[in-house]
Amino acid sequence: MSVLKAHGLNKIYSSKGNVVNTALNDIDLQVEYGEFVGVMGPSGSGKTTLLNLLAAMDRPTSGHIEINGTNPNKLSEKKLALFRRRELGFIFQDFNLLDSLTIKENIILPLVLEGTAPKLIEERLNPLAERLQIAHLLHKRTYEVSGGQKQRAAIARALINEPSILLADELTGNLDSKTAKDVMESLKELNERLKATVLMVTHDPFSASYCGRIVFIKDGRIFSEIRRGSNRQAFFQQILDVLSVLGGNFNDAPFARA
Ligand SMILES: Nc1ncnc2c1ncn2[C@@H]1O[C@H](COP(=O)(O)OP(=O)(O)OP(=O)(O)O)[C@@H](O)[C@H]1O
Ligand SMILES: [Mg+2]
Repeated sequence: MSVLKAHGLNKIYSSKGNVVNTALNDIDLQVEYGEFVGVMGPSGSGKTTLLNLLAAMDRPTSGHIEINGTNPNKLSEKKLALFRRRELGFIFQDFNLLDSLTIKENIILPLVLEGTAPKLIEERLNPLAERLQIAHLLHKRTYEVSGGQKQRAAIARALINEPSILLADELTGNLDSKTAKDVMESLKELNERLKATVLMVTHDPFSASYCGRIVFIKDGRIFSEIRRGSNRQAFFQQILDVLSVLGGNFNDAPFARA
């Protein structure tokens, strides 16, 4: 069952009627229920543009997107806001937690906005917080916890409304390598246990090695796709091999970590 279908996506940035940039060119992408998909590619290849289109934060110039059977670009603004709140979970590089709230208040915010009953909120929150190992931090403020704990709280917030798909842009980008590993292991467990469907953009081959499939893009087009076997280390090596063929600037990526 496909959770996400994108067909023939094009994105042309223009200014005053002039084309400035063709950022995406005829992208086809399908994500199945329970999949864990990575998107990689050199800087400027169109990864964030693609994620923004899939998240319905921006519209494609042409092409078709369907998430859980709905084309978000056909919804009114009001329905789109609801659609994004119910069907999508977001994780950002810089966590995007509200400092004025506790960790718990941050996590449950999407349910509070939906007017969910307190009992149901607790029933959703507690197992998720346990699984992400942040149950003991729920009463703390965001500035009292570590970067990895913040990102795990952000993952819990993204999952608490049981979205159709979790979209992440460089979620380990602000984390040191040990913390990145912990966060990726948590995310992989949620993918396996809860069948959370994940699409994440990353520069980091090590984080990417937790995915089940990686789609590489170059100059706004799909370049290739690889699938993981049972061995993460071997997949890591495979990712490095594709990146070396792909070219572009991956110098900031920690290459020697698996
Ligand atoms: N709002 C915009 N207006 C015009 N051009 C844009 C805009 N946003 C992105 N671009 C261009 O579109 C192309 C794709 O950008 P995008 O941000 O999607 O790349 P990326 O793969 O996410 O790069 P990075 O790895 O550096 O984050 C780039 O050439 C970029 O300069
Ligand atoms: Mg980007």
